[in-house]
This record gives sequence, structure tokens and C-alpha cells, in this order.
Amino acid sequence: MTGIEELLLSRIRDVADYPEPGVMFKDITPLLADPAAFTALTGALADIATSTGATKVVGLEARGFILGAPVAVRAGLGFIPVRKAGKLPGATLSQAYDLEYGSAEIEVHAEDLSADDRILVVDDVLATGGTAEASIELIRRAGAEVAGLAVLMELGFLSGRARLEPALGGAPLEAL
Ligand code: PRP
Repeated sequence: MTGIEELLLSRIRDVADYPEPGVMFKDITPLLADPAAFTALTGALADIATSTGATKVVGLEARGFILGAPVAVRAGLGFIPVRKAGKLPGATLSQAYDLEYGSAEIEVHAEDLSADDRILVVDDVLATGGTAEASIELIRRAGAEVAGLAVLMELGFLSGRARLEPALGGAPLEAL
């Protein structure tokens, strides 16, 4: 394990039985509160943004905003929020996706994405991959290119990476 991996891992808190019994929640707030760890994380994600040739960063509500916005600033790029349905005031593109029980919908301002853009999607956790897959679909429908997906952590036992392979179409998936 590299030094940065050890640092990041040491600042993620496991919370048992949250938000419901049987779930081990990965709490990133200790990492955000530690300036060395937060700086290392956003720097590593900004390096990915630069190396993928991204022109903009998309952050997924809500924790993807906390990471994606400083990554965009550090990489010298614009930031685009992908929000849960009903939160954006302008003309939106919407994408529904399945949850374990029921479904959800995310939206983006259509004018934020153009055919000239290469988008790096940033989020804290890749779990089942449903949220990331829907965001990639939104980006593609807007005519933009997906430069890649970068997350702090990947819950490998949920097989999100395999699910996302077709959607990513060869674009990199980086989990720190
Ligand atoms: C969490 C997490 C990712 C998503 C991953 O967000 O921050 O966005 O779930 O899960 P998936 O890979 O199974 O789609 P959540 O929907 O809990 O929203 P929050 O950040 O607003 O708490």
C-alpha cells in the first residue's frame, strides 16, 4: 500500500449498522477534517483530471460535490453539479436509475455540457455503480465525452466496476 493510500484509509471511519442494521457505513468526514489528507486526496484526483485530458469535472450529489469542486479548482477546470431531481432551476436532462428498492433520478443543466467537453466524473464511493452509470448516460446524451470516473473508494464486493465497463467504453476508472 502506498503512503497516500495508507493516509486516506486511516481517515475513513467504519460505522456499523448505519444507516440501517447490517450496513457498514464508510464515513469520510474525518478525512475531510484533516487538511493533509483532504489536500492529498484532492491533489491525487486533480492529477487524474489532468492526465485524462478532462475539460470539466462533474460531481455527484452530495459527497461528490465536496470532492469534485476543489478538484476542479486545483486542475484549473470548471465544475458541473449532477443533482438529485428537482434541484436545478434551468432546463435539465434527467436520468432515472434503479435502486435496491425503487428508483432514483439525477439531473444536470443541459447548457453545462457540450460536444467539446471531456468530463471527469468525481464521487466519494463506487458501490453498485448505479449512480455513476446514470451520470455517464447523462453526459453522453448531452453529446459530451466521458474522460473517466475517479472515486476515493470502491466497494469491490458490489461489482460496480464490472457494471460500468460498457458505459465507460474504455475510459479509465480510478479508485484511490
Ligand atoms: C452514495 C455515494 C455515491 C453513491 C454510490 O450517495 O456518495 O454517490 O451512493 O452508490 P451506487 O454506486 O450504488 O450508486 P448517496 O445516494 O447516498 O447520496 P449522498 O452523497 O447525498 O449521501
